Formats: sequence, structure tokens, C-alpha cells
Amino acid sequence: MGISQPTKAPEIIRERDEILSSQINEILELYRGERSELIPILQEVQQRLGYLPEAGLKRIARYIDLPESTVFGVATFYAQFKLVPTGRNMIRVCRGTGCYVRGASQILETLERELGIKAGETTSDLEYTLETVACFGSCALAPVVVVNDRVYGRMTTEKAQKILANKKEK
Ligand code: FES
Repeated sequence: MGISQPTKAPEIIRERDEILSSQINEILELYRGERSELIPILQEVQQRLGYLPEAGLKRIARYIDLPESTVFGVATFYAQFKLVPTGRNMIRVCRGTGCYVRGASQILETLERELGIKAGETTSDLEYTLETVACFGSCALAPVVVVNDRVYGRMTTEKAQKILANKKEK
């Protein structure tokens, strides 16, 4: 268990939160409004929407009559819950020792610079989320970067730039 990393909350995310709150109301209608339903409700919202919008968490708090601070506390305590949406493309860079000694940090810096975000953040157009992972278990291929479900071994800064350029062309 850990704490989800909060990222920037640009206007585009706030607007989307408002639209999503009506979807949350639909989910809430499936529950009786008891406090013991907090975790199942959070899980269902996360599963359907991909994250827990701020407006939705406030709505949930009212529905089950719990302080907002309690609901936010639970949502940030469990790593399974995300408070911001992830981008359509998920880029994960290994930060394990095997990858580190083969240049993973330079690759991460390149991706951060190209995308204009830091690890743990999502671009404001919601196209990319950049994350680091302790180890993918593919150390023989170090340095490793995973883009969505595709594993790229023996990564270089040049290859990383090419992958981004190809994605942006599509
Ligand atoms: S250290 Fe990078 S895959 Fe294991």
C-alpha cells in the first residue's frame, strides 16, 4: 500500500470531473448509502471511470454521510486508487539498479523534457502519463521502458525520442 502521487489538476480535468459526477450519481443509486460501502463504492467508481474525480469524492462523502476528509483520506491511502486520470498512453521507465547503471535516468530525463512533465504526472491534454517502476523483471533487457503494453528493451535516449515522435504522428 502507498499513497497515489497527486499531479497537476488543469482546467480540462476539472471540467471532466463535473461531467463524471453524473456518472457517479448513477453508481451511487446502486448502493444503500451506508458507511461500510465506502471501499466498494470507491472501487466501482475507479473501475468504471479509471480514477476518482474530486467532485465525485465529495458527492460520495455526502451520500454515505462521512466527512470529506475521511473519504479523501481513504482514497489517498490505498495505491489502487488514483485521484487524477491517467493519459491515453502510459509510459513506464524502470528505475531499478540494472536499468539505472545502463542509463535509465538519462532516458527518463529525455522523456520528461520531451513531454514537459515529471515522472508521476500526466500531460494537460491527457495524452501521456509518465511513471517509474521499481523493476519489470526483465533486467537482461536493461534499460527497459514499457509503453502501454509494449516492452522496449535496450532503450536509448534516441530510441525514446523516436517512439514519442511516432506516437505523436498517429
Ligand atoms: S532493473 Fe530494470 S527491469 Fe529490472
